[in-house]
Amino acid sequence: MQLGRIRIAHPFALAPMEEHTNPPFRLLSRQLGAGLLCTERIDSADVAKRDRRALKLLDVSPGESPCAGQISGVDPAEMAEAARVVEERGFAIVDLNFECPIRRLIQRGEGGALLGDPAAIGRIVAAVVRAVSIPVTLKIRTGPDESQETCGEVARAAEQSGAAAVDLHARSVRQAYVGEADWPAVARLKQAVSIPVLGSGSVRSPADAVRFLRETGADGVAVGRGCLGNPWIFKQSRELFQTGVASRDPTPTERGRALLQLVEGEFRYYGSTVALRRLARTSCYFAKFVPNFDTFKRSIHEVRDLAAFRRLVAEHFRPGSATG
Ligand SMILES: Cc1cc2nc3c(=O)[nH]c(=O)nc-3n(C[C@H](O)[C@H](O)[C@H](O)COP(=O)(O)O)c2cc1C
Repeated sequence: MQLGRIRIAHPFALAPMEEHTNPPFRLLSRQLGAGLLCTERIDSADVAKRDRRALKLLDVSPGESPCAGQISGVDPAEMAEAARVVEERGFAIVDLNFECPIRRLIQRGEGGALLGDPAAIGRIVAAVVRAVSIPVTLKIRTGPDESQETCGEVARAAEQSGAAAVDLHARSVRQAYVGEADWPAVARLKQAVSIPVLGSGSVRSPADAVRFLRETGADGVAVGRGCLGNPWIFKQSRELFQTGVASRDPTPTERGRALLQLVEGEFRYYGSTVALRRLARTSCYFAKFVPNFDTFKRSIHEVRDLAAFRRLVAEHFRPGSATG
């Protein structure tokens, strides 16, 4: 897949997820086969004024390339300034979020609220395209609700304004994250534009990812909740797509090793106080794939440092326990 001048090795991408797609998780996903990576959504107002927290969310390392930095906002000039910061920070792509269903954003007329106004999206995309030299992509939903499918019109406006690709989360804003994604909407969008189309929603296994590409004709598929605790989905999807057979599931030891890498990365990235606060959630996603999840869940709350966490992982993710 070609996004402007950036070549993406294969169609299996990591979907942006708030609180999840931080640098350590992105790096692990890349090592386990994700083609394109993306940060979580960051407010353009914070990015444009170079707020410290926003800049931290825009940390990116060379090993993550190609990675997109995602911003949201409604003011073209502010979005353009934020996009310049994304480019400065070393991202290969800037992704514009017109999909977020969070009430606070919708009330400000941002994120998914803009899906009712394709011309406004076209103006924002045009301003950002003028401001940066990296490719500009956008993430959208099918429309404000199931009765209004505006994604075709939105994507055409963005294409005319110079967008390099469009990524459709195949649910409406009103659906948020509930219910099955509407894959046929991705197929319809693919027919409506000539820029590359990526899509996401309800992809939980390598078989789903391959079926998504075949049924929709999309150029790429972004995996959301399906990769939490199971980033091997990228590698297995690619194998299944290219050869018809996916490699075996990881052993418990391999799962433990990957989890340890992620958590050590979070300690470096966030510092120990925040990393410890995140520990139960981050590791429970992985622990669900090995036996005795309940015991793990109880023990994780007693962990107070990295050494104790290493011991718990060695105990729990050991050879011989069958994968779930
Ligand atoms: C916890 C969570 C946080 C998310 N945060 C973002 C975000 O910051 N930006 C964005 O464009 N999409 C975000 N999404 C949507 C995902 O990128 C993706 O489109 C969606 O999860 C696909 O559906 P699936 O989880 O059913 O596969 C988020 C999804 C979840 C579950």
